[in-house]
Amino acid sequence: MEVKTILSEKEMPTRWYNIQADLPKPMPPVLHPGTGQPIGPQDLAPLFPMELIKQEVSQERWIDIPEELQEIYKIWRPTPLVRARRWEKALDTPAKIYYKWEGVSPPGSHKPNTAVAQAYYNKQEGVKRITTETGAGQWGSALSFACNIFGLECKVFMVRISYDQKPYRRIMMEVWGATCVPSPSPETNAGRTILEQDPNSPGSLGIAISEAVEVAAQREDTKYSLGSVLNHVLLHQSIVGLETHKQFEKIGEYPDIAIGCVGGGSNFGGFQMYFARDKIVEGKKTRIIAVEPTACPTMTKGLYKYDFGDTACTTPLLKMFTLGHSFIPAPIHAGGLRYHGMAPVLCHLHDLGIIEAVAVHQNPCFEAAISFARAEGHLPAPETAHAIKVTMDEALKCKESGESKVIVFNNSGHGHFDLASYERYLTGKLEDYELPDEKIQEALAQLPKVGE
Ligand SMILES: Cc1ncc(COP(=O)(O)O)c(C=O)c1O
Repeated sequence: MEVKTILSEKEMPTRWYNIQADLPKPMPPVLHPGTGQPIGPQDLAPLFPMELIKQEVSQERWIDIPEELQEIYKIWRPTPLVRARRWEKALDTPAKIYYKWEGVSPPGSHKPNTAVAQAYYNKQEGVKRITTETGAGQWGSALSFACNIFGLECKVFMVRISYDQKPYRRIMMEVWGATCVPSPSPETNAGRTILEQDPNSPGSLGIAISEAVEVAAQREDTKYSLGSVLNHVLLHQSIVGLETHKQFEKIGEYPDIAIGCVGGGSNFGGFQMYFARDKIVEGKKTRIIAVEPTACPTMTKGLYKYDFGDTACTTPLLKMFTLGHSFIPAPIHAGGLRYHGMAPVLCHLHDLGIIEAVAVHQNPCFEAAISFARAEGHLPAPETAHAIKVTMDEALKCKESGESKVIVFNNSGHGHFDLASYERYLTGKLEDYELPDEKIQEALAQLPKVGE
């Protein structure tokens, strides 16, 4: 049996796939918070280079990947599709389990697929400096890596709790020449306001976004970059799903179930989008499952409403499942999954019934990640562990039913900088958090009253 399906560099996709062209119903527009009217490209111009804004609103099915970028992708792409045969055996399941292995990139996750693209377009348009937020540090390190390639300055606001939990991620960013500060920070109005209310604030992605946006808006030569949520980010990540699709074609298989974890939705979005297209266009029946933490149950308990992308209410309004922009999640170890909102395109696909969502506790995720690591060797990121938990559940259901379903999950990154959280799990110190309904109601009461 071939364990790894590897594409040659010549077989690497040369275009990104844009699901907008195949949606059965168009997505709700992005609204201006002041006027409540759909925004235009000029509204986004202070923050993003025009080429990325064009991609954000594009309805074209295919968008060419510039050749210079294809060359950079070759540092780690194409990535392997791996049959987890030793884990199948350990679980004693007739299911065929595959994983798409994105942990082989230099920063260790799927994040550079969009980081290098965003740095490339910023460079093309004369930008000198990029600001961003990061949760777990994976995104911040991916953007640092990308900015280093294109000779751009990079400033990263890292969610305080992760900054303290994961000092090695900060050092990695510094190796690639970036500056990383904990958020909330005293450097911005948004940060200072939060620190006045709570000097020990653990931070959140919403706050870190507010800080990065504020700094980008202050200088002509600076733009902002977001590592998830937006259409252009998921577009760049579509290379993951396109490769996976090709790899399945090569081995004559097709997934019955496709699983990924969701923070802002970029790895799952990029991984599943072309399979969602097969459901829409070809009537395929694949179950596509997004997995989120019970501590931040955006799609399973949030409302599908217009909300801000950040805490200080500076971004345009996006229609998405949301727990409210003021929501500060419990300090679970999957830092990258602690976001109050979700990629609007995934919310739309969920609303249309094309994808499903489930929420899981962190302890069972670590248990599943360790079961996987003991069989397959690779030590996954705590975020990815959420996808692994649901993969394990589905594989064990196959054991009960005797079905040999084809299950694939996106192995979005390694957990080599997350060993403190593994230690907490192994020593029985890791807590599970379920977000109480009152907390959700409290945050949802602050949703803006537009687009209703
Ligand atoms: C390894 C890994 N997987 C998944 C995520 C979640 O983000 P997204 O939903 O954008 O893929 C993160 C975010 O930091 C991550 O580092």
